[in-house]
Parts: sequence; structure tokens; C-alpha cells
Amino acid sequence: MSRTVFITRRERFSAAHKLHREDWTEEKNAEVFGKCANPNWHGHNYELFVTVKSTVNDSTGFVMDLKVLGDIVKEKIIIHTDHKNINLDTPFMENVMSSTENICMAIWDELIDEIASYGVTLHCVKLQETENNFVEFYG
Ligand code: NI
Repeated sequence: MSRTVFITRRERFSAAHKLHREDWTEEKNAEVFGKCANPNWHGHNYELFVTVKSTVNDSTGFVMDLKVLGDIVKEKIIIHTDHKNINLDTPFMENVMSSTENICMAIWDELIDEIASYGVTLHCVKLQETENNFVEFYG
């Protein structure tokens, strides 16, 4: 019987951003985006949870080596986000509103092919922006 197991790697990054539309007034930006509209930026300590699924390998007992998964996330995501400005410095967020929803979907797109090359399936990208707010994307 083949049984699917889900494994999750957490990585963290600290980054600046703002949610701001140039075509809106300051008042409307503040009304819609709240504190995240501050024109002079602000930061979050993001927590990123990447979940992959597969059956367990008979030889290793693993779905996938979690250290390898961590290395993929670091190489594809963390080096482009940690201590960066997401609006200005992160190539995969160019011309995209830097909401947690959009960052989460962009991270999915960055990871899916590389993770698939290890014979496992990307299941969920969860991005926690604050203690109380997080977003999940399942593709
Ligand atoms: Ni914010």
C-alpha cells in the first residue's frame, strides 16, 4: 500500500515592502492598505513554510531530505528576499503588488519545477507575515 506523507520545511526572511498604488491618493492608499501603505517602507519578519508530498523512499525512509528542501528554498527564495526590499530588490516580485497573497503565489512559481525534479510534489506554500496573519497557496 502506498501512503502519501507530507513534510514541511520552515525558512525565514526579514524584508521591507509597502502596499501602495501611485494612481491612488495617499488617503485612499491609507484606507485600503493601512499601515502597509506607509510611503517610507516598513518591514516584516516573514516565516515561510514549504510542504511537499510523496510516498516514503524504501531505502532512506524519507519523503525528501529536508536539508535539500531547505537549500532549494534558500537558493530560490531567501537570497532574493532576506534583508531586501521586496518591491525593489526581488526579481520574482517585479511589477507585482507585494501583498502576502502575491508573494506566496510567486514563491510557488519559483519552487515548483525544482521541487518536482526531486520526484516529489509541491503541496503548499504558507507565508506568515505577522503573528496573526498568514496565507496558504495550494497551486
Ligand atoms: Ni506590510
